[in-house]
Amino acid sequence: MTKIKNNYFEDLLKINKAILAPMAGVTTLPYRLFMREMGCKIFISEMVSAKGLYYKSKNTFPLMETNELEHKDSVTGIQIFGSEPEIMGEITERYINDTAFDFIDINMGCPMKKIVNNGDGSALLKDLDKANKVVREVKSASSKPVSVKVRLGFNENIIEDIIKAIEDGGADMITVHGRTREQVFTGEVDYDGIKKAKETASVPLIANGDLDKYLKAKEKMDYTGADGVMIGRGANYDPFIFSQFNECISGKKVSEYSLRDKIDAARKHFEIHLKYSKDKKKVIEFRKYLYWYIKGIKNSAKIRNSINNVNEIDQVYEIFNRIDDILES
Ligand SMILES: Cc1cc2nc3c(=O)[nH]c(=O)nc-3n(C[C@H](O)[C@H](O)[C@H](O)COP(=O)(O)O)c2cc1C
Repeated sequence: MTKIKNNYFEDLLKINKAILAPMAGVTTLPYRLFMREMGCKIFISEMVSAKGLYYKSKNTFPLMETNELEHKDSVTGIQIFGSEPEIMGEITERYINDTAFDFIDINMGCPMKKIVNNGDGSALLKDLDKANKVVREVKSASSKPVSVKVRLGFNENIIEDIIKAIEDGGADMITVHGRTREQVFTGEVDYDGIKKAKETASVPLIANGDLDKYLKAKEKMDYTGADGVMIGRGANYDPFIFSQFNECISGKKVSEYSLRDKIDAARKHFEIHLKYSKDKKKVIEFRKYLYWYIKGIKNSAKIRNSINNVNEIDQVYEIFNRIDDILES
């Protein structure tokens, strides 16, 4: 049977080459909508448990929240994790095909013990036959393109075998975080490993790991030959990274941003957060972002210490005002 080539990601990456990394507890719908305003156009949701959906866990469904806006001039994939091929296929058909999400991303990179001990996330990199079946089941059940996010391996770099197994299962795009599971988030990212992945892959290949400045992202994309980059933590500290990266790769003059600009962006983020967050503790939820935005601001230790007591909307604005005072002094 001739396999019909699916060009969804090829076409997408011709226009946009930077993806906001999925980050549990961070890349919520309000955060994605904020980053969309900041110039990012490709998103992946927080990871959603296949078993959680299968057993109808009430905590799982809110993670699937999306709205029309994030599929307008931008695309958003839903990330699922799980290791039982049949369950992965079944929840795809039952719960995901009818959503507005533009594509499905399968998590094979999560290093967390509670995930790995269940055989999920990066544990699949120890059993490539199973990894292959997971992709195959999701792909055959899915009405949407399917991407997979992996690491270089579990204990050691076996990226070529991983790419072959995942591609054989039918993946339409692969993202490689250039570390093994054993490294978690420590040590250097192995960009040569990502380069090898790109040389092995015939589907679009995305480079990920420590790309925390637009120029580094551009340089490593060029070095690895990757078709695009995925940026996670760098975007938390620097909300301008996507617009700068996009300017850089299109040969435009790259705009510079001050701390003042960052705090203005943080205010915008808070407004979007208040508008779209359905979390009962939405202000508390915003604390973590405040910690990131305050980084780099001199003499802000007192403000930093007070973030943990922020419970009310006015207290967040008070923090912004105190930062304004520092920046103006
Ligand atoms: C707080 C946090 C949550 C994360 N959650 C997920 C997740 O749900 N799914 C996933 O595939 N990766 C997750 N990751 C990994 C990131 O997507 C990314 O691969 C990693 O942070 C390396 O990229 P970076 O150096 O640009 O942050 C998470 C990372 C962080 C820091």
